[in-house]
Amino acid sequence: MSIEKIVSLCKRRGFVFQSSEIYGGFGAIYDYGPLGITLKKNISQLWWRDMTQLHENIVGLDSGILMHPKTWEASGHVNAFNDPLVDCKECKSRYRSDELVEEDQEKIDWTTIQCPRCGTKGKLTEPRQFNLMFKTNIGPVEDDNNIAYLRPETAQGIYVNYLLTQNAMRLKVPFGIAQIGKAFRNEITPRNFIFRLREFEQMELEFFVQKGDDEKWHDYWVEKRLKWWVEQGIPEKRLKLFDVPKEGLSHYSKKTVDIMYAFPHGEEELEGIANRTDFDLGSHTKNQGDFGISAAVAENKDSTTKLAVQSKNDGGWQIPYVIEPSAGLDRGVLALLNEAYKKESLGDNKERVVLSLAPHLSPIKAAIIPLKKNNEALVGLAKEIKLSLQSLRLGRVVLENSGNIGKNYRRHDEVGTPVCVTVDFESLDKKTVTIRDRDTMEQKTIPIEGLKEVFTETIKK
Ligand code: GAP
Repeated sequence: MSIEKIVSLCKRRGFVFQSSEIYGGFGAIYDYGPLGITLKKNISQLWWRDMTQLHENIVGLDSGILMHPKTWEASGHVNAFNDPLVDCKECKSRYRSDELVEEDQEKIDWTTIQCPRCGTKGKLTEPRQFNLMFKTNIGPVEDDNNIAYLRPETAQGIYVNYLLTQNAMRLKVPFGIAQIGKAFRNEITPRNFIFRLREFEQMELEFFVQKGDDEKWHDYWVEKRLKWWVEQGIPEKRLKLFDVPKEGLSHYSKKTVDIMYAFPHGEEELEGIANRTDFDLGSHTKNQGDFGISAAVAENKDSTTKLAVQSKNDGGWQIPYVIEPSAGLDRGVLALLNEAYKKESLGDNKERVVLSLAPHLSPIKAAIIPLKKNNEALVGLAKEIKLSLQSLRLGRVVLENSGNIGKNYRRHDEVGTPVCVTVDFESLDKKTVTIRDRDTMEQKTIPIEGLKEVFTETIKK
């Protein structure tokens, strides 16, 4: 599906809006409208449920976006969280050099490369490293002593709370800490709608394991996370596993497998599952020399705590390894919208747009439509039915009192409402309703009595 069609539907139907549109928009920030935020929450709540309710050894956390600046020195982000940037001196365009020319960056003669925008040759600068973290200042005075960073990943909030969480919850390795939250990156080339943003949301699990068990757990989480996306409605054939080559690994990773999805603009990363070894806890711990840390960590003179666990076997202290499945929530929304969006011919030159979202993710679960607008008896019964389905607390149920059944069906197809219930005069006499399935458009008459059960079966996950 073309991205333009998705962007247009998102705006028209209240899924996603360009930020600050009335001022001409604001670079690579998007706002979620009423249906978009519900879809997004449905995805994140399911992730949260699956992590923290269905695994006894995984607990949740919600840490601050702003953290002690030492965190980002120890984590390596101040030094290593960079993208290589080139400028065109002619038209002032900016590029990530590794996206502009894919070959070995060391060997490129930049004076021979043409600017893709203005076409001038020989005006591109040599690449320079650009740190992606947004900086701000804490307190009223802006100087170098009170710099803080907006977190570029939620993971570090988990590492600095590792020991407090472990002690409070009496956890033993292997165990995990899950977090969902905003992350910020000053991306040089944000693009493709909500694919690459400057403000986005991550769903991250840091799963702490014993060194030596790490590869087994890495395989486990790759398989588990792939299956999870399939359960949300992405066919397995549209997902691929990509073993990130050594030169593409983040500074903390021994191995990363990306779950790639066929986005409208091409195949790209939806989620990464990294083996971060003992790099992070090792970097944040004090007395690093005592623990035989495998990763190359910089000395930490600021940490007040040892982030280690005592071995059951020999009583020695060890820094656990970390397996990290890290998913982009906005990318999840985009992938699921792209999968769900379909244009179908209805014959007679008519067509419909239908959003075949998995019913458990749909922002509106059912529309109740009285056959005649403002007919007291029909509308009264429709309201009763709405309240009875609403009381199941499976999601939003709406009453459509416009009288135009066909238009209501089209509108609800377009926003992915799985069930439409029509209340007609037979509903008054025979206590039946017509339910229409969004995907097949099949209509069935069923007793009102059985509606709650049919609805629950359709929606529940
Ligand atoms: N804690 C590990 C980490 O942050 P990452 O591969 O940089 O790893 C994890 O990011 C996920 O976050 C990616 O798979 C992607 O889905 C999402 N993500 C990263 N940068 C993003 C951006 N600029 N806009 C939207 N999503 C992004």
